Amino acid sequence: MKTIKLNLQNRSYNIVIGKGILKTRLGKFLQNLNLGNAAFIITNNTIKTKYEKILSGALRLSHIGFKLITVPDSEKSKSLETACGLIKNLADYDKKRKVFVIAFGGGVIGDLAGFVASIYKRGIPYAQIGTTVLAQVDSSIGGKTGVDLKQGKNLAGAFYQPKLVFSDVAFLESLDLRQIRSGLAEVIKYGIIKDPGLFDYLEKESHDCETSWIKKLDFEFLVSRCGAIKAKIVSLDEKEEKGYRTILNFGHTIGHAIEAAGNYKKYNHGEAIALGMLVACDISEMLGLTHKNTCLRIENVIASTGLPTKIKKISPRDIIKSHYLDKKFIGSRNRFVLLEKIGKVKVVEDIPLEIIKSALAKKTLPL
Ligand SMILES: NC(=O)c1ccc[n+]([C@@H]2O[C@H](COP(=O)([O-])OP(=O)(O)OC[C@H]3O[C@@H](n4cnc5c(N)ncnc54)[C@H](O)[C@@H]3O)[C@@H](O)[C@H]2O)c1
Ligand SMILES: [Zn+2]
Repeated sequence: MKTIKLNLQNRSYNIVIGKGILKTRLGKFLQNLNLGNAAFIITNNTIKTKYEKILSGALRLSHIGFKLITVPDSEKSKSLETACGLIKNLADYDKKRKVFVIAFGGGVIGDLAGFVASIYKRGIPYAQIGTTVLAQVDSSIGGKTGVDLKQGKNLAGAFYQPKLVFSDVAFLESLDLRQIRSGLAEVIKYGIIKDPGLFDYLEKESHDCETSWIKKLDFEFLVSRCGAIKAKIVSLDEKEEKGYRTILNFGHTIGHAIEAAGNYKKYNHGEAIALGMLVACDISEMLGLTHKNTCLRIENVIASTGLPTKIKKISPRDIIKSHYLDKKFIGSRNRFVLLEKIGKVKVVEDIPLEIIKSALAKKTLPL
């Protein structure tokens, strides 16, 4: 088991990572933190069916009462309507008890539950128990919570830090390959923005057209390595005000636009981010910031993970349209995280539209 501290003065917390630790260790952590005597668990039916017993067992052992609520298993649950329903439910449960929230699931549950915890009674404590690769390496850490509006993704939300991030990599064994790949896109991103050693590890382990290597990856190592990078970045720039946290958005400017243009159905988050990273690489190459070979190395790792390398059935025009609605678009200036070399990226504003279009065209298959 490994513990990483995310330093944020009086809002600091631990990220605990290990295999098979939920049953044996979670209760102690919750007791020591003294978050409350009643847990309001937000999850979905997929996770409830598989893992309710193990979580409820751990809470019972620690004499923590609980109520478990499920929401539909879909990005659509990240809505103000679902959040409202949960808050009313929470208010009913919160009688003569000291309640805290547990987000038990992937990034959708984590973002939604964190948001609910942030607004109920102007904020109650919550713990993130991520069950997907994406949640464990990324979304459960750093306190970005929120829901989607019809106008765009994550438009209503708050920075609200959890009291504990608890990542048991044993959960990842029941994920299907598509979900694992989606999380691996973020792992590849961490390698590119900050950790050449991590990128080398992925490059060394990956094999063409074969996916068995993915199952053999050391996820405890990957989750720890990514968790440490994110913790460091968040502790330096919690609210993305100093330009430092922005580098976590590598691949996300165009990635979010691809997700939205595909109506959140054609590509999941990681797949869209993989494509977004490739477009960002092409833009970097066109601007002379990086070498073609570096882009090729990235494309090879993405391809052997089984993530898409070409945009299918979405037109560059629709992607550009979505791009202009994204939060990362500041006033009339666009903002991209671009590549210099593996482990080094930089934020660049005002990329000419022609360059973005041409990079997109290179990565898009004809309709
Ligand atoms: N807050 C942040 O910093 C941040 C960062 C990145 C992404 N996100 C958000 O995260 C969301 C995507 O998260 P995600 O990729 O985890 O998707 P998700 O939460 O939809 O989970 C993916 C699927 O896996 C299932 N699942 C979860 N755990 C499982 C397990 N252990 N075994 C089997 N199935 C399991 C879920 O039920 C779901 O069907 C998006 O909404 C994105 O905006 C947030
Ligand atoms: Zn992401």
